[in-house]
Amino acid sequence: MKDIMTAPFVEEMKSTTANMYRLGWDERNGGNISYLLDEKAVAEYLDISKVIRKIPIGFKVPSLVGKIFIVTGTGKYFKNVAADPETNLGIIRIAGDGDVAELLWGYKDGGKFTSELPSHLMCHAQRLKVDPENRVVMHSHPTNTLAMNFVHELDEKKFTHTLWEMCTECVVVFPDGVGILPWMLCGTNSIGEATAKKMKEFRLVIWAMHGIYGAGKTMDETFGLIETVEKAAQIYMLTCNRPRINTIKDSEMKELADLFGVRVRDGILDLAE
Ligand code: 13P
Ligand code: ZN
Repeated sequence: MKDIMTAPFVEEMKSTTANMYRLGWDERNGGNISYLLDEKAVAEYLDISKVIRKIPIGFKVPSLVGKIFIVTGTGKYFKNVAADPETNLGIIRIAGDGDVAELLWGYKDGGKFTSELPSHLMCHAQRLKVDPENRVVMHSHPTNTLAMNFVHELDEKKFTHTLWEMCTECVVVFPDGVGILPWMLCGTNSIGEATAKKMKEFRLVIWAMHGIYGAGKTMDETFGLIETVEKAAQIYMLTCNRPRINTIKDSEMKELADLFGVRVRDGILDLAE
């Protein structure tokens, strides 16, 4: 059996949480990541028939039964993951009727998965229907994205349009735009259901005055989605209280989308002559 500390999925969790911490997006225990793993890849590092303990998850996700995830622990700090992955991360398999997590590795101090597991698993279940290759769900508190929530209308179309206007690459990176939920109580099944509903259409969902969710096929893709929104939000926050002299026009965004062959969400660009 290979040493799990050398597993590429553990390495990815370590480097991603460290990057997110250093970017200032994940203060204290802010943020959480879940990553759907390939059973065969996990079995190279762990005896997957050995269950350390069973943890009820408080809701049901029958479509994920048998699936294995590596998930950040609740109350754990992203800044500490790289130094001690076995305490700050856990590998769980969804079991029973989709209402129990079997711990296969990690949460060494008796801890458990993130309090946002409802949102993570419900989003995985939803994204897998839309994109069978989806693997990652990531939640974070990026500074400028959050700041923008306080000064910009929380209308999905207007918010997406403003983000797209801030950097040339935005419309190409997230042509599906961003979904927005109003402020809601976090850590609940209801916010999980609402986030997953948005994820039918969006890979990015803002939780107003709290943070953002991203979903993607790889850690890089998911991180890159949030990073691009955050960059756009930063430019917005740097410029929003100064006169706007220049902008990227809607027709130019359309040219970009056409060049890169992406389909832009309807109803956001004004392409009337
Ligand atoms: P956890 O420590 O339970 O992952 O919660 C952090 C967070 O960001 C809540 O939204
Ligand atoms: Zn949060």
